[in-house]
Amino acid sequence: VKTVTVELGPRGYPIHIGAETRSQLPPLLDRLGGVRKVAVIADARVADLHLDTLEPCIPNLTAVLHFEPGEASKSLATVASFLDGLAEARLERSDLVLTFGGGVAGDMGGFAAACWLRGIRYVQVPTTIEAGVDASVGGKTGVNHAAGKNLIGAFHQPSGVVIDIDFLETLDQRDFIAGLAESVKHAAIRDGAFFDWHEQHVKAILGRKPDSVAELLARNCAIKAAVVAADEREAGLRAILNYGHTIGHAIERLTDYQLRHGEAVALGIVAENAIAVGRGLMSAADAARVRELFTALGLPVMLAEPLDPEAVIDRCRLDKKNRGGEINCVVVRQWGATERLDDVTAEEIRTALSALSAN
Ligand code: GLY
Repeated sequence: VKTVTVELGPRGYPIHIGAETRSQLPPLLDRLGGVRKVAVIADARVADLHLDTLEPCIPNLTAVLHFEPGEASKSLATVASFLDGLAEARLERSDLVLTFGGGVAGDMGGFAAACWLRGIRYVQVPTTIEAGVDASVGGKTGVNHAAGKNLIGAFHQPSGVVIDIDFLETLDQRDFIAGLAESVKHAAIRDGAFFDWHEQHVKAILGRKPDSVAELLARNCAIKAAVVAADEREAGLRAILNYGHTIGHAIERLTDYQLRHGEAVALGIVAENAIAVGRGLMSAADAARVRELFTALGLPVMLAEPLDPEAVIDRCRLDKKNRGGEINCVVVRQWGATERLDDVTAEEIRTALSALSAN
């Protein structure tokens, strides 16, 4: 078992990574103290496949609340149904929510925990690469609004994260691959050696070699933990995690969430790299390396259908991180060296999008 700690003082927590790490749950719940009831908030598919394996590790399991898999479930209405479930189960302030599934489970379950009784504790048990490398760590919780992705939410740190790679086995290959986009993102923004590692381990990663998967998860969690520890509420540094996400979120929304989040992020990174290259901030060679790595990993670098650039621009204008009505994005100058742009123009977005449909 590898353990990474998110150093946030009294809000700090461990992330346990490896095979059979679900066995870490009873001691974790014990250490948290005072947990009389645990309500599981689970993706229905994941629950069908794995709840029987997880259940014996949750001594005080009181209720299991399901939702239909998929981004379409990530709404206030679903969270309201969880709150009804928590009320029915009579969860008290010292009780706990355990989220079980991918990013959608963690975001919504964490948000329900943040709202119930003005905030109770929760533990994340992510079952996808995307959630394991990104969403389960850092305390961003919430749901989508018709106006855009993740526009409603709260910062609420989990009390622990348990990534059991056994639960990843049933993840289909498309979802497995989609999660790798966030891993490449972390490498590009923080760790050049880790970028090289991806290039060197494409086969082992795609073949899901347990050692490589565990190493990938642990290195990502360490990167994310360090960024979150330095800037929990995204006052500065944490914004670098949004590399690829300004255009990525717009694409995700405009394709009606038919793409996986990671696929949209890969496209967003390719497009935002084009902006960086256009400004002379990133070398064309580095941008090409990112495209090649995505392609080798099976991630998209082209849009299947062109999108209306004006619609993308409108969506980008709604991004949470904008200041003064201008479009923002994060660019990578070199591996590990980022810069935040707060003045991206509509023309730059148009040009960036053409990078996603060029033959
Ligand atoms: N996924 C970006 C963040 O947690 O800040």
